[in-house]
Amino acid sequence: MSASAAARGLPTSARGRDSAPTRVSTRPWIEHWLETCRDLSELKASHPMMDAVIDEIDGRMIRIGDHWLADFASCNYLGFDLDREIIDAIPAYVDAWGTHPSWSRLLGSPVLYEQIEERLTSLLGAEDTLVLPTITHIHMSVIPLLAASGTIFLDARAHKTIYDGCQVARARGAAVKRFRFEDPEHLDELLRAERDRTRLVCMDGVNSMTGNAPDIRAFAAVAREHGALLYVDDAHGFGVIGERGPNESSVYGSRGNSVVRHCDETYDHIVLVGGFSKAYSSLLAFIACPTDVKDLLKVAAPPYLYSGPSPVASLATVLAGFDVNETRGDELRRVLCERTARVLDCLARLRVHTPNRSGFPIVEIPLRDYNRIGAVGQMLFERGVYVTLAAYPLVPKDEVGFRVQLTAANTDAEIDLLVAALEELAHRGELQPARGSGTPWLEAAA
Ligand SMILES: Cc1ncc(COP(=O)(O)O)c(C=O)c1O
Repeated sequence: MSASAAARGLPTSARGRDSAPTRVSTRPWIEHWLETCRDLSELKASHPMMDAVIDEIDGRMIRIGDHWLADFASCNYLGFDLDREIIDAIPAYVDAWGTHPSWSRLLGSPVLYEQIEERLTSLLGAEDTLVLPTITHIHMSVIPLLAASGTIFLDARAHKTIYDGCQVARARGAAVKRFRFEDPEHLDELLRAERDRTRLVCMDGVNSMTGNAPDIRAFAAVAREHGALLYVDDAHGFGVIGERGPNESSVYGSRGNSVVRHCDETYDHIVLVGGFSKAYSSLLAFIACPTDVKDLLKVAAPPYLYSGPSPVASLATVLAGFDVNETRGDELRRVLCERTARVLDCLARLRVHTPNRSGFPIVEIPLRDYNRIGAVGQMLFERGVYVTLAAYPLVPKDEVGFRVQLTAANTDAEIDLLVAALEELAHRGELQPARGSGTPWLEAAA
């Protein structure tokens, strides 16, 4: 024992080999996480576009301190958050129902819920639907129920909330196996080799990073062939994409009734999850499933039994949103598609890489050097462009960059600002060069 260590009274485990003591943390759990998230927390501490306080909005312009920026980080794709018809519809509901029902749904469900589920079921063309406050609540409670003690096949790049739902299922006895992103053949291989008879496949609809939709027809065919249930989270597709037809206003299709209808699929062996917190600008989410599954969830899913409900203003926003979707939704989707095309056309012209090949309004733009994220974000901020920074470890290092989301409420002038900033970044060599032909969006649209 070194004399100096003994003199300081340090426990054996806290001493180095010589006299230098090793500091013993009393909170190793927090140090572990601080180290894991170091890049992100340094960025959060130093960057005006991380953890920002928004002081005021004016349309899609936002004010942070004395700085006005065009907002390209909003998921209010249809602009319902700013829609006068929807805003004006809310007070009558609050007058009639108060601000908040307070009961969990099992204890007492205002009839507004029944109205929402009826309209939603008809819009989706599903057998039935159940609404709960958020998609996260649904993943955490429904995935473990559907998986039971069987096997989950999880998309390797599934959204974190799906992954977390699978972790809960695993803790309750399910096995979890991962299949490669966008690879139905790999899923087929894994299912073919599986002996467990309870099989649940979990994946995203429109992907929150790439902006692309999976080949639902191929995945559904594999799931059906192997007696598996396909569970799809279309948080970003619901309200934006929908059924195809000769009179559609854009490649997004019509009615915004989500990825299953967009891919001309049925709900046979498919459970669809979606939310109103993006395209419908409200706090509510849904699961489309057979009625016997809905009945089970009403007694077995904790958010139905115990969670506080969505505020009345949110329920009102959804009901008014259905009306606007019916009358003006396809026109808003046309505008949204056009705005997005301006950005994608700009990237194609600059020969800059984006994984988006769908034309849907999520445009990820990775950097050539991941260390430049702070500087690039600062430059965008100074040019008045607000985006979502995709930092490590939220994404792999070769995908570090920023994500642009378009909404129908963004103006042409705001997109001019964005296009000018993208041109500057491309000319400075900050962005990754296009791969292949460099115009995947134009080819897909052709
Ligand atoms: C794909 C996906 N699923 C789920 C969520 C979470 O949704 P909610 O806020 O309804 O829990 C998000 C939010 O960004 C998402 O992108």
